[in-house]
Amino acid sequence: MKKDLLTINDFSREEILELFEKSGNLKEKREKGIEHLSLKGKSLGMIFNKHSTRTRISFEVGMYELGGQALFLTGDQLQLNRGETLKDSAQVLSRYLNGILIRTHDHQEVADLAEHATIPVINGLTDLNHPVQILADIFTIKEKLGKIENVKIAYVGDANNVAYSWMTGASLMGMDLKIACPSEFKPASLPPLNGNGKVEITEDPYQAVKDADIIYTDVWISMGDKGDLDKKEKLLTPYQINRKLLEATGKSSLVMHCLPAHRGMEITSEVLDGKSSIVFDQAENRLHVQKAILETLLLQRNLRRDSSYF
Ligand code: CP
Ligand code: NVA
Repeated sequence: MKKDLLTINDFSREEILELFEKSGNLKEKREKGIEHLSLKGKSLGMIFNKHSTRTRISFEVGMYELGGQALFLTGDQLQLNRGETLKDSAQVLSRYLNGILIRTHDHQEVADLAEHATIPVINGLTDLNHPVQILADIFTIKEKLGKIENVKIAYVGDANNVAYSWMTGASLMGMDLKIACPSEFKPASLPPLNGNGKVEITEDPYQAVKDADIIYTDVWISMGDKGDLDKKEKLLTPYQINRKLLEATGKSSLVMHCLPAHRGMEITSEVLDGKSSIVFDQAENRLHVQKAILETLLLQRNLRRDSSYF
């Protein structure tokens, strides 16, 4: 069976550790200027129904650096958004490409694409989760702290797609995650938690950050968010990452943000640009980890050949 990456749970803990090993090697090779053209002749289709800077560019540059090519396909230019079915599109794309990355709203759309495609599908963010982000984030934590297990993460802010993937990732990798968010924005349900990490949800940001190794946040309003957004911003105001909250950890914690940031909202510029912040190293690591994901998925053996499938 082909392997896709729709949620972090599509990988085992061991596979993620292997992925990090590969990411580290690819990063080192790039720094030393050593070519690594493992995906020569391969093509990745990238369907974007939402904006992106990091995801689009890290995957596109990643494919180029691995010797392949990436095709940026905006949803509104594909026949898919003029009524061609997902099933038909998936079958056609599988005959041209070696993998598909998709960023869209409905997670089910990604799952359906993966079901009908005979090539690997990578979730580049949905309203439900953002696995490629959190894999790169855990790699960054390993790089900075030298360990993953029992690392204490405080996620402070909106319990959105990024928080959801954090729950999956922290549980699987044995981390200790506390999410602080207003009760109105608590996750409606928890994702399947497949590991022995701890996941806790609280309304109190100060309780969440106590002893945290990492304080993490994301935007308060995500792409496609609906409802009373002014009210949401107001309720989230006490969850801003600022100097006072950072000092409340009681230790020298590191600050992460998946970006884009809304300075002065979920995080102050003082903290984002301060010495505790590792956000730009975190953003860079998207490239190295995304390359490792591409290599792992696009080079998997026993991919069903399109011609024998039909
Ligand atoms: N963090 C992240 O996924 O950024 P983009 O929306 O710019 O891709
Ligand atoms: N939660 C944000 C993440 C952006 C990378 C969003 O979905 O807009």
